[in-house]
Amino acid sequence: MITVPTTDENIKMDSRFRKFDVNEIRKDFPILGREVNGKPLVYFDNAATTQKPNVVIDSMVHYYKYENANIHRGLHFLSEVATEQYENARLKVKEFINAMSVSEVIFTSGTTDGVNLLANTMCRADMLNEGDEIIISHMEHHANIVPWQLLCDRKKTVLKVIPINDDGEIIMDEYKKLISPKTKLVSIVHTSNTLGTINPIKEVIDIAHDNNIPVLIDAAQAVAHQKIDVQELDCDFLVFSGHKLFGPTGIGVMYGKAELLNKLPPYQGGGDMIRTVTFEGTTYEDIPNKFEAGTPNIVGGIGLGVAIKYLNMFSFNDISEYENELLKYATEQMLDINGIRIIGTAERKASVISFTVDGIHPYDVGTIIDTDGIAIRTGHHCTQPIMKRYNVTATARASFAFYNTKDEIDVFIKALYKVLKIFG
Ligand code: ALA
Repeated sequence: MITVPTTDENIKMDSRFRKFDVNEIRKDFPILGREVNGKPLVYFDNAATTQKPNVVIDSMVHYYKYENANIHRGLHFLSEVATEQYENARLKVKEFINAMSVSEVIFTSGTTDGVNLLANTMCRADMLNEGDEIIISHMEHHANIVPWQLLCDRKKTVLKVIPINDDGEIIMDEYKKLISPKTKLVSIVHTSNTLGTINPIKEVIDIAHDNNIPVLIDAAQAVAHQKIDVQELDCDFLVFSGHKLFGPTGIGVMYGKAELLNKLPPYQGGGDMIRTVTFEGTTYEDIPNKFEAGTPNIVGGIGLGVAIKYLNMFSFNDISEYENELLKYATEQMLDINGIRIIGTAERKASVISFTVDGIHPYDVGTIIDTDGIAIRTGHHCTQPIMKRYNVTATARASFAFYNTKDEIDVFIKALYKVLKIFG
């Protein structure tokens, strides 16, 4: 027989503030110690997904080994432990984004699920009807375009797009011009996964609110790099994914102001979201459970909670200062390379560099540097309208997290010169 500590007790995490030391941080992420193609892994695909620290991995293994049960359902010991752990994770999210209440934190399967949840429920609540307009921007991920298009097909709503300038910044004057009495929602990305642009999100929200329009923020690329405070932003809805925040895949968050969430109908029907069911009709749970049908991703929620606990040991000022240094260091060297064009040169930029190399397809760049153990993403990055805007079919993209180093950037730059030599 073994005495089992809870996940929270089991994870050996010093909850005190940690001084920013990249070499120490790297020790927390086991995958960073591996080789790929006989070379030390250089992981520069953090905009696609981030790596996981030991504490997250261990907590998930511990949960499945010793605590697994369904939540909100049983009176037995394990069900109560699992429920407590899961709800504890919700509390960590609430504190992390500074929501007013845990009831404003809905667990989803990810950012895409969150946008679809809102599009579907607003549509069913008749908050979006024929002729109503939704404003998005030219730099949206497909996940913040397609759910609205599906809705437009169904309800004959109209999608309006804020244009971007050549640096990849939204044109604020054009945004203001798009607002009309028919605008029912502004849905915009905080930080672009392709261009790296950090949008003037507070200004966008304030302008919408001056016109009584609610705002949804896609914070998928923002949450791991800067402090998000939903009360300070005063956004109405905000979505993000756990896996871009050093947590597991398959779990995400939709934040919504309670007052608005209460006006929306449930998204999906099933267990956990009901209060009573009869054949004549069903009553629903209060928020957030109203939006969480079925057995949720319990271990995902727990892993995300632990990822947040891990991140809380650092200051976002330290993280963004360090990532900015990496961005500057890499950008300067890349600009020295003949034929490289960086797409996305906004003044306020996260540590994402999309680029093309004259005469060489991005897939070839990605494939060749992969032989040196370097992982970048190539393609359209789920943002085909951006590709069209810059007249390219694809880009190569290097994206950094706080565990990357200048030494890794040196390896990357050397590999880019190698690509040029091969094609030279
Ligand atoms: N949205 C993710 C990316 O930018 C998948 O790669």
